[in-house]
Formats: sequence, C-alpha cells, structure tokens
Amino acid sequence: MSNVLRKVVFLVTGNVNKFNEARSVLKEFGFSCVMLNMDAMEIQADNLESIAKISAIDAGEKSALPVIVEDAGLFIDALNGFPGPYSSYVFRTIGIKGILKLMENVEERNAAFHAVVAFYSPNAKSPRCFHGKVRGKIARQPRGIHGFGFDPIFLPFTNTSKTFAELPPPQKNKYSHRAKALRKFARWYRKHLELVKFEL
Ligand code: IMP
Repeated sequence: MSNVLRKVVFLVTGNVNKFNEARSVLKEFGFSCVMLNMDAMEIQADNLESIAKISAIDAGEKSALPVIVEDAGLFIDALNGFPGPYSSYVFRTIGIKGILKLMENVEERNAAFHAVVAFYSPNAKSPRCFHGKVRGKIARQPRGIHGFGFDPIFLPFTNTSKTFAELPPPQKNKYSHRAKALRKFARWYRKHLELVKFEL
C-alpha cells in the first residue's frame, strides 16, 4: 500500500455532519477521511456493536476497501435506555419533540450518547470495534444551531450549561462519544496499518 493511502480512512456514511466530525478528529492523527456514501446493509438489533459490525463487513466486501462504520445512539436512563439502538428511527418519527414529551414531568434526566466504530478490512477479515460514551442530561427545551440529531437537547456533564448544538464542532469533538471512539480507533490503526492492503 502506498504511503498516501496509508493516511486515508474510508468512513461509510451518508451523514455529512458525522463525516465532518470524524474528519477533524482523524486529522489529529494525521489521517485524511473520505466519505463513502454507499448502500451498506443496516440491520436492526438491540446493540450498536452488532449493527456497526454487519454494516462494516458488508461495505468492506462490496467496496474492497478497508472501511469504518460508526453507529451511535442516545440512551436515556429514565426510559431504560430508550431510544438507544433505535435512535435513528425515533428521530425520524417522534423526533426531539416526542422525546421531550416522553420526558415531560420527569425529574431524573440523565442520559448518555454511545458510539461504536467498527473497522473492517477485506484482508483482515474479522471486524474490530471501538467504543465511546459521553454522559449528560436531557434539556427541557431544544437549544443551539450546530450539530445534528438530538444535539439540541443533550447537555454533556463536561459543560452542562450548553447543549451539544450550542457548541461549535471543535468543542463537541472535545467530549463527544463519536470523537472518543474515533480516537481509540486512530491510535490502534496507526499501530496496525500492516493489516490493510488495497489497490485503487
Ligand atoms: P446513527 O445510526 O449512528 O446515524 O445514529 C442514530 C441516531 O442517533 C441519529 O439519527 C441521531 O438522531 C442520533 N445521534 C447519533 N449521534 C448523534 C450525535 O452526535 N448527536 C446527536 N444525535 C446523534
């Protein structure tokens, strides 16, 4: 593999916000990030790791490239972890309004974002996963213009006066579940690049 390609990470996603967050985290490690907006299998399962692994294997085999897939969700303590792995569906259906409705009159508002980054290379075969988590609280009202998804109602404990959507992207990347999982991946990938072999 050429030195140039050693510096590239292929992220399978159609979400440009996710891509931009990943790009700036991976840059800290000297990696460029390419957004691979392809049709990868997405199963419904009750844990993020299985979802990310299956998508990464499918995308890696279809593209013949080493890829990462990142899957994330919002886990609300008072709702026993709901919406969790169903966050994407819940966001598209009841959205932020629906979550705030479910949380009406609920005093215990602790929650966490979890992310799993799955790496798969067609010549390494078994996928490898990296986890990241940030704890915080569900706000009473949505606030902020940055980010995506449930960012306007998530107050990270590291900065409880501002929601994720009130933090400019570099600030969110200091604390976010996604950034933590990606940093774990990048540290590992730097050491294990020999697993990867591909031609463009
Ligand atoms: P995905 O399946 O990883 O794309 O994420 C599922 C859903 O979780 C998304 O549709 C978002 O609503 C939510 N989500 C995941 N990560 C974030 C985040 O960093 N901020 C806000 N919402 C997120």
